Formats: sequence, C-alpha cells, structure tokens
Amino acid sequence: MVQKIKPKVVVTRKLPDVVETRMMELFDVELNLEDKPMSVAELKEAVQHADVLVPTVTDKINAAILSSAGPNLRLIANFGTGVDNVDLATAQRKGITVSNTPDVLTEDTADMTMGLIIATSRRLTEGERIARSGEWKGWSPTWMMGHRIHGKRLGIVGMGRIGQAVAKRAQAFGMSIHYHNRHRVHEDVENALEATYWESLDQMLARVDVVSVNCPHTPGTYHLLSARRLKYLQPHAIVVNASRGEVVDENALTRMLSKGEIAGAGLDVFENEPAINPKLLELDNVVLLPHMGSATIEGRIDMGERVIINIQTFADGHTPPDRVIETMF
Ligand code: 8YV
Repeated sequence: MVQKIKPKVVVTRKLPDVVETRMMELFDVELNLEDKPMSVAELKEAVQHADVLVPTVTDKINAAILSSAGPNLRLIANFGTGVDNVDLATAQRKGITVSNTPDVLTEDTADMTMGLIIATSRRLTEGERIARSGEWKGWSPTWMMGHRIHGKRLGIVGMGRIGQAVAKRAQAFGMSIHYHNRHRVHEDVENALEATYWESLDQMLARVDVVSVNCPHTPGTYHLLSARRLKYLQPHAIVVNASRGEVVDENALTRMLSKGEIAGAGLDVFENEPAINPKLLELDNVVLLPHMGSATIEGRIDMGERVIINIQTFADGHTPPDRVIETMF
C-alpha cells in the first residue's frame, strides 16, 4: 500500500495535549511543547519549510513574514476566530488559503462578556480586592453600591454570532437589546431578541447604559469607538470589550474613565497586548482581564479540532470549511 504523504504542519504555540496527539497521528507536525512565542526569525523559518502554519493571536503573520514563505506554504489554519493577526490581502495574493475557528468559542466569549457586564456594574473585582485586603470595616447600607443591570439598555456593537449570544444572555437578565451592525439582522432574530437596530452608531451610543464590543477588528473597525464617538456616552455608561482592543481608542477611554466622564469599563482585550495602559491599572472603576474570553478547556479542544478538520479537508484537496476571505470582513 502506498503511504499517503502527510502535510508538514508547524504549530506556533502549545495546544491541549489531546489536540497535539491527534495532530501527531494525522500530520508531520512540529509542536511547540515549551509554548515559547516564536520570534520573527523563527516564524520566517517556519513558513519557509511548512505546508501549513497554525498560528494564534500572538503571531503577527504580516507581509514581511509572508514574503519568506516557501512554495509549499498553502494554508494558514489560524487557531482562533479573529484573523486580524494575519495579513489576509497578502496571503490571498500569494495564493495561501486562510482558515479560522468560528462557532466553537461563541458561548464562552458571550459568557465572559456577560461576566464583564455584571462584574463592572456590580464592582465585583473591587469588592474582592477589599475583602482580601483585610480593610473591610463591615456592612453599610450606602457602601459599595453598584448599578442594577435589570431594566438597562445594552448596545451591542457587532451583531454576529457572539453579539447574538450576548444578546440572548442579556435578555434573560432583563436588559433591553440595542445593536449596531453593518447589516440589519434577520427580523426573526430581531424579534426573538426584541432587539432595536441603530443604523447610526453615534445615536445608539448616546442612548444606552452599557456598550458591548463584539465586532471583529478589521481596517474598517479600528478605533470604531474613537475619542469622538466615546463622547456620546452618558456619564453613567459602562463599556465592555471581549473582542479586540484595537476597536476602542484605549487612551481616550482611559482619559474619560479617569475624569469620570463614563462610569466604568470591563476589558478582556487591549490595544497593545500584553501591555495595558498603566493609567487603567490605577483605576478602581475598571475590570481588567488578560484576554481569557475563550479560555475554557472545552473551547480550546474544540478550536483544535476545528483546526484539524480545516487542515485535513485542505490536504484532501477540498476547500476548508472555515476558509476566510478578505471580503468577509
Ligand atoms: C483566542 C480570540 O484566545 O479566537 C479569537 O479571536 O480572541 C481568542 O479567544 C485567540 O484568538 C487564539 O488565537
């Protein structure tokens, strides 16, 4: 029997054991067991000899890296839904297919968004810090008051899979759903979520109590929540972001939070990860998490399986199910 040639797959970060074991069975794979992020030189070397690269959000697969790609590199199977770490236009020009891992992290990311909405409105991490500090003087009727979320208006920026999953949760918490999206969603979805569509993001921002960023980062959404737009928010409003830091002007947001021009922020993502604006770290009215929106063991295994399906389908000569094309964004 002729043995099938296995594709050479380079994985840039440590993945769950079960995913790596399956990859070992199926592919000629180079793993990164130590999980040390690859340098630019190492990435260039990887794309020179790989058939398939499996990067993550921490690898910037830009034009410079892609210019080193060898003739065999035909697929970038991103471990992640967001593909802003990959220069899609250059990949497309070079005939390199790109795939991602949609769906499998929708629920986890929506849970984290809801967690941020509650944690920020009800000052959870601030209270936790006080409880641990030994400085808690005892209960008082007017101390550590947050804001109720029931009955408040939530403005979702980006009503895709994750935005809709956030809406479903928020609806169950008694919030009313508002959204801005490039396209209005199907009326059945709108009806089920009792959602109000705003063509104008500016107008929506001026009217909601909580803003949740759930759109991808693309050239078109960079600083979508700009200094100018953030000014539309009411002083009691809070902003949560479990998408990408680049969608919000982090400096402008920080300035407004410091001056009390908005009430709070819950952020799982930052513009220059892993760096966080030091002024944000000084504020009490923010909940800051280290990009852990999809960090569940189940989610990470599902993401790995999705990557494997994309590679295997491509190796079998078909279009990977999660192929990404630039115009999708
Ligand atoms: C992942 C994410 O942690 O999939 C995404 O877009 O933001 C994440 O939840 C990361 O991207 C993995 O590469």
